[in-house]
Order: sequence, then structure tokens, then C-alpha cells
Amino acid sequence: MEIITVVGARPQFIKAAVVSKALHSIGINEDIVHTGQHYDHSMSTIFWEELDIPVPSTNLNIGSGSHGAQTGEMMIQLESFILNRKSTPNAILVYGDTNSTLAGALVASKLHIPIIHIEAGLRSFNRKMPEEINRLLTDQISDILFCSSEIGVHQLEKEQIEGSIYNVGDVMYDAFLTFSEISKKKKTDTELLFSDYLLATIHRPSNTDSDNNLNQILEAFNTINQTIVWPVHPRNKQKLSNRNLPNNLVLLEPQSYFDMNALLRNCEKVITDSGGLQKEAYWAKKPCITVRDETEWVETLHGGWNQLTGPDTNKIMKAFNAAPNTHWKPLYGDGNAANAIATKLKDFFENIL
Ligand code: UD1
Repeated sequence: MEIITVVGARPQFIKAAVVSKALHSIGINEDIVHTGQHYDHSMSTIFWEELDIPVPSTNLNIGSGSHGAQTGEMMIQLESFILNRKSTPNAILVYGDTNSTLAGALVASKLHIPIIHIEAGLRSFNRKMPEEINRLLTDQISDILFCSSEIGVHQLEKEQIEGSIYNVGDVMYDAFLTFSEISKKKKTDTELLFSDYLLATIHRPSNTDSDNNLNQILEAFNTINQTIVWPVHPRNKQKLSNRNLPNNLVLLEPQSYFDMNALLRNCEKVITDSGGLQKEAYWAKKPCITVRDETEWVETLHGGWNQLTGPDTNKIMKAFNAAPNTHWKPLYGDGNAANAIATKLKDFFENIL
């Protein structure tokens, strides 16, 4: 059996790193297509090299653009790529909620190719987020849906999604466990550079494209009497360079997985609006302040490990000063999600072929 996997953005490379190995180990052929949504070396190539991901058979080199233009161009190129292949794949696999996810799912559905969605059933219930629309639509047309927790399964059942639904745990937990061990042994440069710091990543358009929201966040950073290390997404470089920034802020280039893992391991707390980092903070047992009004990863809120503040200076400070948590329980599976996915896929396709 053969699967085409469509990836395009940084977090999807990390997920592919563990899933591709599991597919390969069980004898499933995988052809990886990179849409080119992320293209800078620090946003793309570095992950493929560092995490030893199988080289994609093609890079569509779509690059940046408006949501419509980017998604549309991906669909045109992807459809043509699939139609020009010698054989039709058994399924198309997509991860998460980016424009690459939706493009892959829509093309597959138009060509009547079964869709596998990993990280299905997540909801922020905020339809202004492009990611929410991407995941709602992808889940609707997927045939095999892999959730990271029971909450995802219940959500899909509530929405009467017709595909086969499985709770397998989170493949990012697999990646976290596997690569943390390697990262610990490596002792990266970043590890030696900073001590007694908070780790921040803020990249959502809702936070960075609104002057008021960005000011609120920077005001909180200014009030915190501690170094804040912030690897900056390229879309925000320009915006930050035009401002008077707090003196305690250290801006870095986007970090590789191992470097980010080292920064996380040694930080005191995390302040973020990223989805993945909320979970990684939890797994690393670091308190997390999420500068959003909602999260798809609601389990991380239990026990106060993750606190939602929105872009509000006072709420960020209140969360920053909150008492540390003590109760921690494993979330999102046992670190074997990728193998569970590979086994389910093999069973599924061997039964229908
Ligand atoms: C995308 C995803 C988001 C995910 C994030 C992970 C969508 C709608 N959003 O957001 O869910 O959390 O990836 O990182 O798919 N840029 C560069 N170099 C790059 C890539 C991007 O300079 O390699 C700049 C460009 O100015 C581009 C902007 O970043 O216009 C936004 O990139 P885009 O891929 O559209 O969305 P992200 O913000 O990265």
C-alpha cells in the first residue's frame, strides 16, 4: 500500500519525523510532498536534516500568499502532481490545521482518494482563526481520523463525522520523548547562553497584527523582571524591529527542534500563543501562559499548568505570579501514537484492498 503525505509548515515536519518512521517500519510506502508553505532554512530544511525525515519526492514551492491564493495554488499543483503519477495512492495523509492540510484534504476528496487526518477533532470554537476552518473542513471530509485524546473523539461524534475515528494519543508526544533524549545529549549553544529566563513565542496574526494586542503583550514583558528569550517567527521580524522593545527581551532567529527543546528544558516558564509549545511545556513540566482566549489543548489547563490570558497585560501578570502547580499526570497518550497509527492504517487498508 502507498500513502502520499502532504506537509508544508514547521509543526508538520516534526510530526512527519515520527510517523514516517513508523509507516516505514511496518512496510507502508510513503511519498512525502512538501507544499513549500514554509521555505526559509530555519523554518524548513533544518528540521528535515536534524530530525532525519525522509526527503520529500517533490517540493511544490508555493511559498507565502493570502490564504485564498496560497491554498488555491497548493491545490492546483498538488492535483496535477497526483494526476501525473503512475499510480493512484491508497490514501492521502494530512496533519493538523494549516493551509497545507486543507489543500491536501480537498484535492484528495475531489479525486476520491481516502483522507487520513492526524490531530483530528481539535476545536478552538473561534471561527475567526483560519486554523479552525481548516480543521473543521478537513475533519468533515476525512475517512480515517486520528485524535490525540478522548475529547477529540467526543467532538467528532457530536459533529456526526462519518469517518473511522481513533484515539491514539499525540504524535508530538512521541517526538518530544524521542528527540528530548537526543537533544539532552547534544548540549546546544543556546543551552550555554542563557540562564534564569522565560521562553516566549508569539506569532498568531491576532496577537501580532493588532498594535493594541502586541502592545499589551510587550507591556507585560516589560513588567516581568527577568530575561525573556523569544525566537521570532519571520512574519514578525519587521514588526518588532520598528518598536522600542523592553531591555529584558532577547530576540532570536527561529530555532531548530533540538535548540528549542534545550531552551524549553532550561527555562522557568513559557509564554506562548503556539499550539505545540503549550503541550511541550506541559510535558517538560513548565508552567505555561497562553496569550490566547481559548485553546484546542484544553487538557493542559487542568491543574493550572497552562493558563489562558488573551493579550491582556493584567491577566498575563496575574498568570505569571500564580502559584506553581504540583499535580501532573500524563496527557495525550503514552508516546506510541505513531506506531498505533501505522498499525491501524495497515489493518484498515489490508481489510478493504
Ligand atoms: C502557519 C499556520 C499556523 C501554524 C504556523 C506554524 C496557516 C493558516 N497557519 O502560520 O497554523 O501555527 O504555520 O509555524 O496555515 N514566512 C517567512 N518564511 C517562511 C514562512 C513564512 O518569511 O519560511 C513569513 C511570510 O511573510 C508569510 C508569513 O510568514 O507571509 C506567514 O506564513 P504562513 O505560512 O502563511 O503562516 P504562519 O504564520 O507561518
